Amino acid sequence: MESAQEKYIREHSSEESEALKWLVKQTNLRTNYPRMLSGQIQGELLKLIAQMLQARNILEIGCFTGYSSIWLAMGLEAGGKVDSLEINDELEDLIREGWSRAGVQDKTELHLGDALEIMELFLNEGRKYDLIYIDANKREYLNYYKAAKRLLRKGGVILADDTMLGGKVYDSPETSDKQTRGLIEFNDFVAADPEVEQLILPLRDGLSIIRKL
Ligand SMILES: C[S@@+](CC[C@H](N)C(=O)[O-])C[C@H]1O[C@@H](n2cnc3c(N)ncnc32)[C@H](O)[C@@H]1O
Repeated sequence: MESAQEKYIREHSSEESEALKWLVKQTNLRTNYPRMLSGQIQGELLKLIAQMLQARNILEIGCFTGYSSIWLAMGLEAGGKVDSLEINDELEDLIREGWSRAGVQDKTELHLGDALEIMELFLNEGRKYDLIYIDANKREYLNYYKAAKRLLRKGGVILADDTMLGGKVYDSPETSDKQTRGLIEFNDFVAADPEVEQLILPLRDGLSIIRKL
């Protein structure tokens, strides 16, 4: 249920395009976990950050149905590209139809497979990114971060979603839940990393914004 504050923010922020609204509806109808969508407010923020960085190369770890990659693609500089990684190949048809409806099919590339394996290939190819959005398996956030930092240009930004996990990271510091443990490990490592500056924005379940020095 949307709170009064959430409603007010949504009504006073840029609207979703028709293609994005279509994709939200299809994600609700055709998948089991529609809550995984980043949502309109976070989507607009992703787009604005891409625009502020004048990003030409964006990497997304965790495509799901392609919703956040559409927002990221809308924030690209002309001629830029979003590489999006997804392990669940059953989502491919929906991703491609959403991207096509949004008109971003030429600015987005889907890479199906395990994110860490694909990132290793990209490292070997010498790729560099301006912006990297981490939004996949929470147990692997620290490993994604270590690989992402090597793929990121100096001054580039890593965004990591869900880093407070509904408050579990500070309410249950001794938990054995592997997702929460993964995020606690990630947050502690980033906080102590002298090579970045960072903050956790209290948006939804927490969005970390990390800039490589
Ligand atoms: C939270 S959803 C991503 C939501 C999407 N960024 C959005 O906002 O629309 C996480 C996605 O990561 C994918 N995923 C999980 N483990 C993965 C892995 N090892 N490699 C690549 N993708 C993975 C899941 O299949 C899922 O679709």
